Amino acid sequence: MGAPVDRIKFPTQDTQSMKKNVIIIGAGHAGIQAAASLREEGFGGSICIFSEDADFPYQKPPLSKGYLDGSQQKPSLMFRSEAWYEKNQVELRLGEVVHSVDTENQTLEADSGNYVFDTLIFATGAYNRTLPIPVTGQDEPLYLRSMKDADKLKQALDQAAVQDVLVIGGGFIGLEIAAYASKSGKQVTVVEYQPRLMQRVLPPLLSEHFAAKHQEYGVKLLTGTGVQSLHQEERWTATLSNGDTLEADKIVVGIGVLPGQALAQKAGIRCSNGIEVNEFCETSVKNIYAIGDCALHPNPFAKGQMVRLESVQNAVDQAKVIAASICGKPTAYHQVPWFWTHQYNLKLQMAGLSEGYDELIVRGDVAGEKFSVFYFHEHQLIAVDSINKPADHLQARKWIQAAHSPDRVKLADDTIKLREC
Ligand code: NAI
Repeated sequence: MGAPVDRIKFPTQDTQSMKKNVIIIGAGHAGIQAAASLREEGFGGSICIFSEDADFPYQKPPLSKGYLDGSQQKPSLMFRSEAWYEKNQVELRLGEVVHSVDTENQTLEADSGNYVFDTLIFATGAYNRTLPIPVTGQDEPLYLRSMKDADKLKQALDQAAVQDVLVIGGGFIGLEIAAYASKSGKQVTVVEYQPRLMQRVLPPLLSEHFAAKHQEYGVKLLTGTGVQSLHQEERWTATLSNGDTLEADKIVVGIGVLPGQALAQKAGIRCSNGIEVNEFCETSVKNIYAIGDCALHPNPFAKGQMVRLESVQNAVDQAKVIAASICGKPTAYHQVPWFWTHQYNLKLQMAGLSEGYDELIVRGDVAGEKFSVFYFHEHQLIAVDSINKPADHLQARKWIQAAHSPDRVKLADDTIKLREC
């Protein structure tokens, strides 16, 4: 979560843009939803999406879950069919990089030449942080962001000869991959430099719950530990911050992401930890928007602080907001953030932002792995994490959106139905 910064001056928008052209950079959840919502709002101009990823636009969340374990195949990951893009006249320029944006003349330079835009949308997402340590050997450690990365990862982990897997980073990516590898019979070690797993988003109770589950499956957890160097001969040798060494056949790295803002920054658009936008997802430059993982925005569910969220919900809902704005119906972004992760039998759904909570109430069957944690700040419900309790999650989203706080005494009593709290 970022620190508060000055509100961005709201630029005067071009209200005649309904029949003009929109260029979207990025074909993830944010970019594709923006195109779809523009058409749903009745936008009649041209829409062109540039994507440096050459694969037909696909959803990323399954890459570390169903796609990795084989329960979901490639076609089910596609956002839309080819026929949809054709019917809705959404031009895809796949495998094409945008090199620069001229905000004055409203043009951009891409691999195939220069393009003029009336409206530009940055949906440039985020990219993986890479290990800031010496790495030597003929192979690279494995990272996961794109479908190509996922194919490479799966091919590597599915080899029978691969026995020992070292995962660096005990966050979402690292742990979802650790779960897959350990279920596949690999000996997995996770090295996480914070004292707890998923510390960025979870309280101790839930970190511990996930740690116990990984240990039940034989995963060795080294928290509060960093990696100082990696060297590969036949196998990899990792030198840890405590001086120990570890051997592994494969190294997987999931140590967080950085916002895709280099292009915007080069163009003179205001950026810090992300491309800065106001509540309408407008950047500091007229007719240019930013949405999704790359957008640092004021979030009402973070007390209006500037935050950058890495989530499907945020990408999709911001795309809807800008589509409405471009079509002359400006609507401020005001949606409860939510996230999820799936590891073993644990489906964790998170609603709201729990940072800054001063009270939590646990409700449900912790031993039976069906429970929710309700977070309050000054008696106001701010977030709910639910494990295998989808109904609680849905109720929580409704309550947080409506700024409703349940009765805390009733909530702590499991015999009272949630909707009666
Ligand atoms: P993350 O921020 O969730 O976790 C990274 C972890 O690596 C943190 O716990 C951090 O303390 C640790 N770390 C950082 N540097 C380290 C180092 N040098 N040595 C050891 N540990 C280190 O980021 P992650 O897992 O890479 O995921 C990236 C992004 O992918 C997410 O932010 C999200 O956008 C997306 N994602 C979301 C999922 C979900 O919502 N279920 C699942 C998978 C990915």
